[in-house]
Amino acid sequence: MANVTLRNVRKTYTGGFEAIKGVNVDVADGQFCVLVGPSGCGKSTLLRMVAGLETVTGGEIDIGGRVVNQIEPADRDIAMVFQNYALYPHMSVYNNMAYGLRNRGMAEAEIKTRVEEAARVLELSAMLERKPRQLSGGQRQRVAMGRAIVRQPKVFLFDEPLSNLDAKLRIAMRVEIRKLQRRLNTTSIYVTHDQLEAMTLADVLVVMNGGQVEQVGNPLAIYEKPATTFVASFIGAPPMNLMSTRPEEIKSQLGGAAGEAGIVGIRPEDFAITDQTPAGGVALPLTVEAIERVGAETFVYGSREQEDQRVAATPGELPPGEVIVRIPGTEAPAIGQKIRVAAVRAKLHLFSGDGRKRIEA
Ligand SMILES: Nc1ncnc2c1ncn2[C@@H]1O[C@H](COP(=O)(O)OP(=O)(O)O)[C@@H](O)[C@H]1O
Ligand SMILES: [Mg+2]
Repeated sequence: MANVTLRNVRKTYTGGFEAIKGVNVDVADGQFCVLVGPSGCGKSTLLRMVAGLETVTGGEIDIGGRVVNQIEPADRDIAMVFQNYALYPHMSVYNNMAYGLRNRGMAEAEIKTRVEEAARVLELSAMLERKPRQLSGGQRQRVAMGRAIVRQPKVFLFDEPLSNLDAKLRIAMRVEIRKLQRRLNTTSIYVTHDQLEAMTLADVLVVMNGGQVEQVGNPLAIYEKPATTFVASFIGAPPMNLMSTRPEEIKSQLGGAAGEAGIVGIRPEDFAITDQTPAGGVALPLTVEAIERVGAETFVYGSREQEDQRVAATPGELPPGEVIVRIPGTEAPAIGQKIRVAAVRAKLHLFSGDGRKRIEA
């Protein structure tokens, strides 16, 4: 087992594109760290640098107290699980798991012990003689995990390992991966673009954007206090409502608290349909545009009377003037109906006008 520390890590690809612009992350021994962010933000690049599959342009990667920048992948004591599994199609499950160990010259008896133990943990014992094509997607993914487990590495690296699975299996495997990691207690770095996967798996969540870290921390702490509007709209689904504090309807409620041109954020679940105006909170008149009933709750999409002035657009964000409200149950207003929604002061998130800074009121 080992800690992993990234110190001011940078990556410029040949051609001059700067994919990683100075990243600092500290993963303690045994922790599960998740790198989350939109496609192209540099997650795989960073993970591949930890694995030794990409050269490091600047900074240091430290695994277990040893700087590994110049160390070959095979000597880093890591095991990586990829999205596409990368199994050998002509080899049995057993041989797929044994292959890497044989390459290292391990004795067959020890290999057998390790493969059988991994197969037991992953519930693959009955399938050791099958070829990958005779397995389901979920079983193939488990073989890929088994191949990493038998190595008994200091660190597991996962690059979107569940992306090829259907939604239901993805959730089941997510729970399995977490249980397994808790049991083995192996330091892990897991890459995903799926914020829900990230929230549920991480001890430490690293939210990335454009080759940089936006925020690092406990997932729920990040949900409760996003540091930037990017994080605010990326973490949580449906996304947080973000509005300029400039329009009169909001400014009058917030008073001067948000400054002249700040951004106010309100999570869909923090709005209630009500005629009351909570002191210091926000109340908005809306026209109901769409209703989505998803079973236990309902999403109400409304449009605001006033055009939103805000500048910085971030992924996952609602179009200007659109507000989403999340209410429990299935009872909802009718489309076209005029409603009023309100959020209490304690539920407001305030940000600077450029969205780069959270303001604690
Ligand atoms: N070998 C490469 N050469 C040049 N640019 C690359 C290379 N690999 C990735 N990139 C670029 O680096 C950025 C980050 O890529 P990547 O790490 O794969 O993102 P993610 O895994 O977050 O989707 C992207 O803009 C991508 O196009
Ligand atoms: Mg990737």
